[in-house]
Amino acid sequence: MNQQAEEILKFYERQGKPAGQEEILGALQELQQVLGCIPKEVQEETAKRLGVKPSFLSAFIKKYPGFKEVSAVHEIHVCTGPSCGSKDALKILRALEQESAQKERKEGISVKIVKGRCTRRCAKGPNIKVNGELCHHMTPEQAADLIRRL
Ligand code: FES
Repeated sequence: MNQQAEEILKFYERQGKPAGQEEILGALQELQQVLGCIPKEVQEETAKRLGVKPSFLSAFIKKYPGFKEVSAVHEIHVCTGPSCGSKDALKILRALEQESAQKERKEGISVKIVKGRCTRRCAKGPNIKVNGELCHHMTPEQAADLIRRL
């Protein structure tokens, strides 16, 4: 976890458990200011440190429209046409789905993974499009790494 977020949690943890609504609100506002959003993993850690149930904290976040669980959204199209499909497109798709789920949970950065059509660059496949930009000769490892760097 981010050092500043850790300091915020330490401060509110020292205020006593279970935290009151004012402390919860204060902690969440500060966390969002530092992180840009309050990802699931941060919500769980916050609930633990403040001595409240994760479901209570989640409901609290949904109650206040100013709080966000996700700070950015990206989109990746994976070509699943006949040529890319025969060259690991499905493994790439699975690697992307796995990595994107972790990314959203840990960092609050959402990556939408979409099965795409042939981009007519079959000879350079497997191909994916990251936010509209074509990437060629992908492997599942490279695709997962790409998400880590978003
Ligand atoms: S099948 Fe992927 S570019 Fe044609």
